[in-house]
Amino acid sequence: MSIWAPGRVNLIGEHTDYSGGLVLPIAIDRGIRLEVDRGPQIALVSNGDSIELAADGSGDAHGWGRYAAAVGRELALLGRPAVGIAGTLDSDVPQGAGLGSSGALEVVVALALCAAAEFEVDPLELALACQRAERRAVGVPSGILDQAASLLGREGHALLLDCGSLEYRWVELPEELAIVVIDSGERHSHEGSGYADRKRELESGHPHRVRHVRTENERVRALVGALERGDLEALGPIFAASHASLRDDYEVSTPRLDRVVDAALAAGAIGARMTGGGFGGSIVALAAREDARGVLQRTLEQAGVQGWIVRPAAGATRRRTDPSRNPA
Ligand code: GLA
Repeated sequence: MSIWAPGRVNLIGEHTDYSGGLVLPIAIDRGIRLEVDRGPQIALVSNGDSIELAADGSGDAHGWGRYAAAVGRELALLGRPAVGIAGTLDSDVPQGAGLGSSGALEVVVALALCAAAEFEVDPLELALACQRAERRAVGVPSGILDQAASLLGREGHALLLDCGSLEYRWVELPEELAIVVIDSGERHSHEGSGYADRKRELESGHPHRVRHVRTENERVRALVGALERGDLEALGPIFAASHASLRDDYEVSTPRLDRVVDAALAAGAIGARMTGGGFGGSIVALAAREDARGVLQRTLEQAGVQGWIVRPAAGATRRRTDPSRNPA
């Protein structure tokens, strides 16, 4: 079978998921594909590197294999029969670029393991299991943003998720609005970053951290309102306020990310902000569809290392071809 799980770009609602706040990601048309059959173990190959684990995820894992192992363990705890898989992973979502590559890896492996064992799990339950797997794999207290976006994305829409109640709905994105992602080239790993520190500081009531989360939740509501009214003019200031808050109050931006945001705005973006966990990674910019290619090119002349115009894609699926390889 062929399984595909998308990466994600968070439009707004950054560092709000692990305190039960609001997020507004899209699943993107870049992701991870897994061609897989049933087998005795969990045997996976990626870029010439291979792992072999027991069908319940136990065994020695290194690097990316830790995510597969942790997914196997979490699904075993949910009662998944120990049926293995053998297959090959292929990704077109860069690692460490803040585009949810580890979430996509967890989701694609989880769907394969469930399919192989004919074990049904509701998508939100599966997102939670994958979130626990991420925490188990790397010990970072991350939220549910990436896994939920990868599983629940809808073509042409953003996902509005309340990470407290886990209620969600989709918000249609105006066709004239293009989403541009630019990779700063600065690599992040939440294992070594201040991610866990930020969560701790927030929980202990650090006033600036708390203010970021409160105002960011308001900005998610404001952005959804503006999108639903088709008020594209309102989007830029909301993005600007989000970036400033992440830079000054939450302190997860970097001079390099700030530079890419400035370059995108100078290149004619409607709005631009860092996206994902920060400490490097990517920015997301909004542009009028007819300007998008120019915005991308002009930004890259000034800052960043690579970029894409991304489309809001459907969430992870089984027996489907990767849409990025199949431009319709
Ligand atoms: C990372 C985490 C997410 C979320 C974002 C910040 O991507 O994996 O859970 O906290 O950072 O919004």
